[in-house]
Amino acid sequence: MPAGFQLGVATSAFQIEGAAREDGKSPSIWDTFCRQPGAIGDGSNADIACDHYHRMEDDVRLMQDLGIRAYRFSISWPRILPNGRGRVEPRGLSFYHRLVDALLAAGITPFATLYHWDLPQVLQDQGGWPARERVEDFVRYADVVTASLGDRVKHWVTHNEPWCIAILGHWVGCHAPGLKNPAAALAAAHHVLLSHGAAAPVIRANSPDCRVGICLNLSPAVAASSREEDLEAARHYDGYFNRWFLDPLYGHGYPEDMMADYRKAGILPDGPLPFVREGDLARIATPCDFLGVNYYTREICRSATAVSPENAAAAASGAVSASPHVEKTEMGWEVYPEGLFETLRRLFVGYRVPSIYVLENGCSYSDGPNAQGVIEDERRIRYLGAHIEQALHAMACGLPLAGYFVWSLMDNFEWQHGFRQRFGLVWMDYATQRRIPKQSAWWYSATTRRLCGSAPIARSGLREGALCRPKY
Ligand code: FCB
Repeated sequence: MPAGFQLGVATSAFQIEGAAREDGKSPSIWDTFCRQPGAIGDGSNADIACDHYHRMEDDVRLMQDLGIRAYRFSISWPRILPNGRGRVEPRGLSFYHRLVDALLAAGITPFATLYHWDLPQVLQDQGGWPARERVEDFVRYADVVTASLGDRVKHWVTHNEPWCIAILGHWVGCHAPGLKNPAAALAAAHHVLLSHGAAAPVIRANSPDCRVGICLNLSPAVAASSREEDLEAARHYDGYFNRWFLDPLYGHGYPEDMMADYRKAGILPDGPLPFVREGDLARIATPCDFLGVNYYTREICRSATAVSPENAAAAASGAVSASPHVEKTEMGWEVYPEGLFETLRRLFVGYRVPSIYVLENGCSYSDGPNAQGVIEDERRIRYLGAHIEQALHAMACGLPLAGYFVWSLMDNFEWQHGFRQRFGLVWMDYATQRRIPKQSAWWYSATTRRLCGSAPIARSGLREGALCRPKY
């Protein structure tokens, strides 16, 4: 790996921290959403989750013992600004100061995401992301955080997955705040993108020599057949999922074909987009230092005439994604490593993205401890290995890949699925809060060593195959 290549792991605040009502934190939209009957598959909530808020030092030590080089985490807005804006909660800020200091002391590079979906509920009560005022609120929040941590954190991600924030949260309704209003979803998407562009210069001013970017979830959309209707479904899905976000970020404005589709469906009025004001598109396209990509799978698209009930949400967008009989993870997502290469190539060739980090890649498999307490998650090793191979192939072809992060360090609260889906390299025993590195964690540790040179010596001598020790 070239010097400076970042190989790491990722988490997010809401999914691991717990301490939902401690140290002055106010509820986020996800705290509220979890209380809606039926919203979370296993009826759980993230009040405790991995209790990372109280076990942060141990978790950093765990990463150090595994030889992890870079850690992507997110910051909880309602911990820092319980009223959404204004008064800063020093205890919230202090948690992230301690985290960053612990990471740096352990030789781990921090990558901080400002928004990974946990909007303060008070701001939802004022209209949430569909309201333009959120742009200013986000910029102020970004200012507070980066002014405080910008001397030590040098990699900033404004938003995680605007498609999920906007579409899953406001159109499909399976994410907080749980709305089913396509027009509101498109307004939310615009304000999220605009707040990214507006915050970037503020972050740069606060954090000298930092790198700023946004993180998109991207999937190649391929037609299930060469039938005209399926080709059309793939075009539409690509627009809905990928291009609606990529095009404006890279200076092309919103895609014409999609505006036409949305007008035809009555989602957008004729004429100019109601939420776009003069100067917005230039602001969204503010040049950034990198693009973050979360890659999990591809979408195989069929015309809406072949709608199945589980695809009803996507069908509402005019396309359905239907995977044939292929290998899938427990999320039902097709294992398609080549899609990572295809995505990286598209970003470089189609959008001239100068620098890319894969900020999430991973898989849900529920393999747990065997009689000896060892977790043999061979399928995760195969999944990650195949994707890392594609990343290496991309670099060998000259694509500007600067880092790769596994989702996730440990099993955690997987949004609407609750604790049923396990993406971790480390097994979480939620009853005891024990952390047990899976075989994949040791494999990733060895892979890091192989690709990036010798890892820092395991501080506490934790060895491959060692069973979990209570300190985790
Ligand atoms: C991504 C999210 C992340 C996690 C993975 C599985 O969409 O960014 O928080 O839930 O999916």
